[in-house]
Amino acid sequence: MEVVILPGTKQIGALAADAIEALVRRKPNAVLGLATGSSPLPIYDELASRYEAGGLDFSQAHGFALDEYVGLEAGHPESYREVIRREFTNRVNIKPENVHGPDGAAEDLEAACQDYEDAIKAVGGVDLQILGVGTDGHIGFNEPGSSLASRTRIKTLIEQTRKDNARFFDSIDDVPHHVVTQGLGTIMDAKHVVLVATGAQKAQAVRDFVEGPVAAICAASILQMHPHATILVDEAAASSLKLADYYRHTYDNKPEWQGL
Ligand code: F6R
Repeated sequence: MEVVILPGTKQIGALAADAIEALVRRKPNAVLGLATGSSPLPIYDELASRYEAGGLDFSQAHGFALDEYVGLEAGHPESYREVIRREFTNRVNIKPENVHGPDGAAEDLEAACQDYEDAIKAVGGVDLQILGVGTDGHIGFNEPGSSLASRTRIKTLIEQTRKDNARFFDSIDDVPHHVVTQGLGTIMDAKHVVLVATGAQKAQAVRDFVEGPVAAICAASILQMHPHATILVDEAAASSLKLADYYRHTYDNKPEWQGL
């Protein structure tokens, strides 16, 4: 696990975009794992402006969303399918048919979750998975207690997550209780995971998953077992890390050829 502490969201967006740009240049049909929420927005902004500036081509790339609410009507502006379109895929030349999300409106949710797993496998798996982290340590919507080997399935949101996400809705009563989410095992299959956390409200979760024990109570801690996990944090989110100075020293002295 590599922890990179950066001054702010602009630098985080640029560094993550560098990794995605290098991947898409190396492998034009790369498979990107797309998170929603606030954390990835600087990455999407940076990728969109690099695309507009010319030279970055997503025409053969694929995108797979991490999760989706259950029970929002099709086209709801806060459904993650719509959010991903608005914040990223409509701003670059990725083909709409190459952008996928778990189907939270399916009548048979279990079958839809299995179909989603199969669709990811059919394109060879996710090359780079973008992640945020919840204040309770969730990734995707794998709330505390999630099986560390879980696959895409339905989950119930913890009340804190509903409160955290109420800012996107008119009222907390509108935030669904259920979601479908890639499991921790699904996320762990991605070849590279890049997690972004910013702000003091994430400091405890970052400390817990980076330096605490690997345990289902903090789902993101499973990333300690990932062979290629990059954690991009600002100073505020890094403020509780015991080994912050070591992470800074390591990154400052990293050989340039290594990339992220
Ligand atoms: C979103 C997702 C969630 C968020 C997390 C942090 O697709 O899966 O795990 O990444 O809730 O949300 P923000 O970035 O809004 O703080």
